[in-house]
Amino acid sequence: MRYAETGYNLEIDLSQGNIEKVETDPKLTELHLGGLGTNAKILWDRVPPEVEPFSPDNLLIFGTGLLCGTPAPCANRTIVTTISPQTLLMAYSMMGGFLGQELKHAGCDKIVIRGKSPGLVYLWINNDKVEIRDASHLQGKGTIETAELIRQELKEPDAQVAAIGLAGENRVFYASIESDKSSASRQGIGAVMGDKRLKAIAVRGTKDINIARPAEFMEISNEVLEYIRHRLENPLKLPEGMPVILGYLGIQEMSLHDEEWHTTNFAWGNARHRRKDFWTKEIEESWKETQEKAVTRLVGCYNCPVRCGGAISQRGIRSYMMKCYSKLTYTMAAMSDLDFGFKIVAQGQEYGVDGYTTPQIMAFALELYEAGILTDQDMPGMPSDNEGRFYWLLDRIVRREGIGDILADGTYWAAKKIGKGAEAFAHNNIKKHEQLPLKLGILNPIYYLMYCTNEKINITQIEGQFPQSPHLSREDREEFVKDWTQVPDEKFKEYFVNWEPRTFPHYPPPEAVCDIVDWQEAMHYIDDATGICAAVSSFVLKPPYNIHNLSALISTATGLDIDKDKLWEITRRNRTMIRAINVRRGMRRKDEKPPEDHWKKRFPELEAKLLDEYYKYKGWDKEGIPTKEFLHELGLDYVIEDFEKRRIYSNN
Ligand code: MTE
Ligand code: MTE
Ligand code: MTE
Ligand code: MG
Repeated sequence: MRYAETGYNLEIDLSQGNIEKVETDPKLTELHLGGLGTNAKILWDRVPPEVEPFSPDNLLIFGTGLLCGTPAPCANRTIVTTISPQTLLMAYSMMGGFLGQELKHAGCDKIVIRGKSPGLVYLWINNDKVEIRDASHLQGKGTIETAELIRQELKEPDAQVAAIGLAGENRVFYASIESDKSSASRQGIGAVMGDKRLKAIAVRGTKDINIARPAEFMEISNEVLEYIRHRLENPLKLPEGMPVILGYLGIQEMSLHDEEWHTTNFAWGNARHRRKDFWTKEIEESWKETQEKAVTRLVGCYNCPVRCGGAISQRGIRSYMMKCYSKLTYTMAAMSDLDFGFKIVAQGQEYGVDGYTTPQIMAFALELYEAGILTDQDMPGMPSDNEGRFYWLLDRIVRREGIGDILADGTYWAAKKIGKGAEAFAHNNIKKHEQLPLKLGILNPIYYLMYCTNEKINITQIEGQFPQSPHLSREDREEFVKDWTQVPDEKFKEYFVNWEPRTFPHYPPPEAVCDIVDWQEAMHYIDDATGICAAVSSFVLKPPYNIHNLSALISTATGLDIDKDKLWEITRRNRTMIRAINVRRGMRRKDEKPPEDHWKKRFPELEAKLLDEYYKYKGWDKEGIPTKEFLHELGLDYVIEDFEKRRIYSNN
């Protein structure tokens, strides 16, 4: 009997129209858990570096987290893994909502999709009955519209649906996959789904999931739930100067109105302008009114009381659900206001595009136009107002029409094609991928390492456990660490207490920076393998889930004996696996750098030292390649063999 997981993956070959249900090897669960961990293992085994993103041999894997569908609070993430058309490296993108638990209840841990269908199709998984169905009538339909049409057609109002829109069908490099309130958004996984001619996946499942030691498991789950409730009623009290939003559990953008921190600290336009005086009383009042009108109720994912999402309903616009910083990306890129943001996201979500990259590429295009690099000839018929231009560009991009065809590849590739100095305007990328629009003052050594080395190429997925800046007084810092039970080691308390304000970039010292980054990263790797939402775990300060209760929760759910040390080792193995995939695809030290202008004050010598130390700390060589000794220690000798065969070590 398998516990927590079902022990089966669905293998779908869209070229052949073949469907198989395959029993999985339980040893892999012990080594990698599930979700991102086992997704990465499959990608390593089956997608060699010669395979291009739009090759039929590229896989698109929907992997439920190991604890999805169990009663563990907020365990609801499905991790979607493929090779990204944008970065040409491994992409992994996540969605919460309800798809993961439904898949588990249908008796399946992962859907592994290969090949390309001759015509547009969708997948219908109804417990053990799995069909590939014609979707030609859904061509061009929006993501939410598609889900509704499929539910009607199947007469299954409870089916969970994940779909692509026009952007995915047209292989826009930042197309997303949308599933009601949730979205697997970044790095173009929707484009790979479109390339496979797969419009949607619909799932209905009613089977049971087994838990190995149910009484103990429920006890831990209930403790977590109780602490979640406590924290919902008692947000952390953070001292002045720290963004209030960081005191809350979840990411409460839909219920909180105070946007001073984002609007004055994050950059507007094409990640250019800081508007330090933007947030006034009038703006605050008008934005509050806009938000209260737009958000009709708060919504949550499966088995989660936190409710980060908002149902958005506005006259003349299809209802949809929103959460997190998507609220502001279009608003700030277009130098507009919140009302515009709420409206255009409705369109973006129907088209199925990433809400981070899309506004940035449109702001980039308008900057090129202002600079005379793109001209009226490139933009025939473009309206004269900024908001109108954003809608106009969005329509061209998702259809790949005219200039939209070039912009559909993201700022990096578009700039290369446009030439004439456009490359200098694609200034906010790491590894060819658009980053959050942030331009700050002095180098932050912790963020420096996270930006350089994180494999998701997206900072949100690494940060969280350690405060971003120190509290002003030592007494406040001592107070903060008093109930900081989540730390894996007492040394983290010391690092924080000794952290005086304005000591960047020389504090924390490199050894402490390595420890801090490693801890934050490890926690995310646990969440992305178990499917627990980071917003009650790795992404928030003093979270309900931590290294201590997670090992017990995983053990009681699965029956495996996974203590803290073993869990930590699994995070290192999974993290190294993804690095190995990317190294094999050519990623090296030269690629590991934040945008040049991310900080005004940079310290090249210190930065090089930090990177050296972190590579060593992680068991990687000076190029960022996992060493043979370290790979052997993690039981990844097959990676050594492959690296040797490909002469990866000797070429450095
Ligand atoms: N894009 C769409 N379409 N919808 C979204 O909800 N969320 C943004 C961004 N892009 C979002 C989106 C936020 S807040 C984050 S943190 C990332 O996507 C999450 O990336 P992932 O879904 O690829 O893991
Ligand atoms: N949970 C896990 N395990 N991993 C993640 O990266 N990202 C968080 C949250 N939960 C994240 C996660 C962030 S920043 C956001 S905005 C939401 O998931 C995005 O929710 P969605 O992917 O369901 O749209
Ligand atoms: N701070 C720095 N210095 N650099 C960053 O990249 N990431 C931001 C921000 N803080 C980031 C940062 C991101 S991705 C988010 S979403 C917010 O922290 C998280 O806070 P929020 O929940 O208020 O959005
Ligand atoms: Mg997501």
